[in-house]
Amino acid sequence: EASTSSFSQTQSSFNMADRTGSVKQQVASLVKSSLQATFPDLSDVEPQVAISAKFGDYQCNNAMGLWSRIRGSGTEFRNPNSVGQALANNLPPSEIIESTSVAGPGFVNINLSTNWISKRINDMLVDGIQTWAPILSVKRAVVDFSSPNIAKEMHVGHLRSTIIGDTLARMFEFSDVDVLRRNHVGDWGTQFGMLIEYLFEQFPNWEDVGNQAIGDLQEFYKASKKRFDDDASFKERAQQAVVKLQGGEAKYRAAWKKICEISRSEFDLVYERLNVHLEEKGESFYNPYIPDTIKELTDKGLVEESEGARVIFLEGFNIPLIVVKKDGGYNYASTDLTALKYRLQVEQAEWIIYVTDVGQQQHFEMFFSAARKAGWLPPAEEKKFPRVSHVGFGLVLGSDGKRFRTRSSEVVRLVELLDEAKNRSKAELIQRLENNGTISDWTDEELEQTAEAVGYGAVKYADLKNNRSTNYVFSFDQMLKNQGNTAVYLEYAHARICSIVRRSNKDIDTLKKTGTITLGHPDERVLALHLIQFAEVVEEACNNLLPNVLCEYLYNLSEIFNQFYTNCRVIDSPEETSRLLLCEATATVMRKCFELLGIKPVFKL
Ligand code: ARG
Repeated sequence: EASTSSFSQTQSSFNMADRTGSVKQQVASLVKSSLQATFPDLSDVEPQVAISAKFGDYQCNNAMGLWSRIRGSGTEFRNPNSVGQALANNLPPSEIIESTSVAGPGFVNINLSTNWISKRINDMLVDGIQTWAPILSVKRAVVDFSSPNIAKEMHVGHLRSTIIGDTLARMFEFSDVDVLRRNHVGDWGTQFGMLIEYLFEQFPNWEDVGNQAIGDLQEFYKASKKRFDDDASFKERAQQAVVKLQGGEAKYRAAWKKICEISRSEFDLVYERLNVHLEEKGESFYNPYIPDTIKELTDKGLVEESEGARVIFLEGFNIPLIVVKKDGGYNYASTDLTALKYRLQVEQAEWIIYVTDVGQQQHFEMFFSAARKAGWLPPAEEKKFPRVSHVGFGLVLGSDGKRFRTRSSEVVRLVELLDEAKNRSKAELIQRLENNGTISDWTDEELEQTAEAVGYGAVKYADLKNNRSTNYVFSFDQMLKNQGNTAVYLEYAHARICSIVRRSNKDIDTLKKTGTITLGHPDERVLALHLIQFAEVVEEACNNLLPNVLCEYLYNLSEIFNQFYTNCRVIDSPEETSRLLLCEATATVMRKCFELLGIKPVFKL
């Protein structure tokens, strides 16, 4: 029942078209005006605005680059510093900026108006966090993620793809991008001949056999592969089965469908636990369109004959991209080229994002390059839409530093893995509540839901917090720690803020409407500034396809909140109303971060 991006339904009258954009975008557009006023002839110069580490809140770094363009051309400016001065002076008047200063070679330090910061937070509390959604230049995106293979193991690589892809999709959806969540399952190929033939052999009345009875498909796959390798006549029949399946013969289609369904219901057990929603368009979907694609590429002169196969030679690669195999069959690349064409032309997607392990990088680079050669995409260096991106990620390692395996079997069963995370988190929760004598305050359902939120959240967060391209070590002990950069710690932080608001005994919804935030203490301002930077963090995470950027922001938020809470008394202080509103704003932003990371927030812990 839980919808993945319900912000548009839960909030009232706010129109996404009325978003103001991130603070950084707003500052950049002021700088843009100043650039145009100062250098009317250099209309191509883009504002360079960054968060400032030291002086001021933001910094404009255009002066040096401009100076090197204009020096010696009889300009009135004497040095980069004077360029910076002019840029600062020509900033249009705005309620956003309080003051500026120019340092060294023309860096313009920009201080935001403290009143404006408070107002921005006040407004968000009234109108909802979706008013802080960034404005992205893409309208529709495909996120191709998870994408396991039928009858084969859904492994930790697919888990990473599922977690990372879902977060990317959620961040884009929050930013009002129309996202097509595609499960590009491997449901087509010659292996189905052997699977179907084995099904007929093992279950002569297969049509009436329940999916349960067929049992574990991975074992089934292994056994059928063994038959295929050991028995020449079975192999022969399996090969004929492929032909019949591809010819659309009903019995073979039905057997194929049954095998797919069994796999699908196994995948769904994982998706249910992770609360991830996908729309399946498997490889089989594109199969009928492949001949057209190959014809187009051939007509465009891209396809050549090489060692009996049909291939595309591409600059920068020492092997060609095979699009039709020696035996005349199609492959992963011909399917991906066809799917890309479909996504561009039929689905009208502007950005197509593929989430797989880095091991597939070459495949993606090669077919992307073929698509550019075919004129489907603009040259990569133009950075224009439509655009394709491969979101590669590293390996999941065990504590021994090798590829992650479980003790019992070589294969990690994802369902068991997730269940273990939940069970461990439940055991720890119960233990703690027994120790502090509050277990009687909890219903069984609350315990269960909290354990789920924390346990699954821990698995997701442990994955997402790393830069995706690095390998990471899977460790239940690490991810379930309640200290350090873990989901558990962050859930605690959030629950604690909620309890501050609860303990105040104030009606926070009324305060939101009547109270105002004033930022008197320096730690209040630091917290407030971090809060209003939420939008640009989501923007950066989307533009660079890096969920860890959001994790880092969330972790810093909780640290910055602690700093504030240590130094600023909230309850029963003269500033109580304002500070409660800051607590509430922090909790609101944290919850949105959790939601974007696919983690359920908990309100008591
Ligand atoms: N099924 C593939 C695998 O398990 C991943 C597919 C990724 N998507 C794509 N369009 N190639 O490795």
